[in-house]
Amino acid sequence: MTIRTLLLISITALIVGCADQHQIDPETGFVVRNFDLNQIKRGKAVYDANCVPCHGVDGVGTPDWRKTGPDGKYPPPPLNGTAHTWHHSTAVLKKTILKGGPPEFGSMPAWEGKLTEQQVDDTIVWIKSLWPDEVYNVWFNNFEGKD
Ligand code: HEC
Repeated sequence: MTIRTLLLISITALIVGCADQHQIDPETGFVVRNFDLNQIKRGKAVYDANCVPCHGVDGVGTPDWRKTGPDGKYPPPPLNGTAHTWHHSTAVLKKTILKGGPPEFGSMPAWEGKLTEQQVDDTIVWIKSLWPDEVYNVWFNNFEGKD
């Protein structure tokens, strides 16, 4: 192997390594959220206009979200990190919002055709911004980049 090839390999490794890197807060050991504040603002506006009637202001949801109602369906859960929204990858959350939930399970509507994919992406970032640092950290380690 020539020096040139070696150099090329190390540079490539460095670039790939950097692209994969995320910042860790040295004090907490948690991954740092480098969210775009404008995207959060846009996501909050979409949420406030469409989702508040069911999921509540700031995603607080229904207190008894684990219990089915008289219709046998689950009520809108909190999205703020206190229920299980953070047990899903971004891809799954996006699919749930675009396609809706199973009708026999609850009344989560499908937003495809009503919201753009960009609006859904913005809303998901806003939802993630509600999660406490430790919750986001666990989510990131398990779900970031997954389908
Ligand atoms: C008519 C009431 C209603 C509206 C409006 C509504 N949702 Fe829901 N949503 C639900 C219900 C009920 C569930 C739980 C049952 C299910 O998944 O079908 C749910 C589930 C979800 C989940 C999955 C949560 C989890 O913990 O897995 C996400 C994410 C979500 N909604 C986001 C949104 C967003 C974003 C909007 C606005 C664009 C929205 N919802 C509007 C009723 C609603």
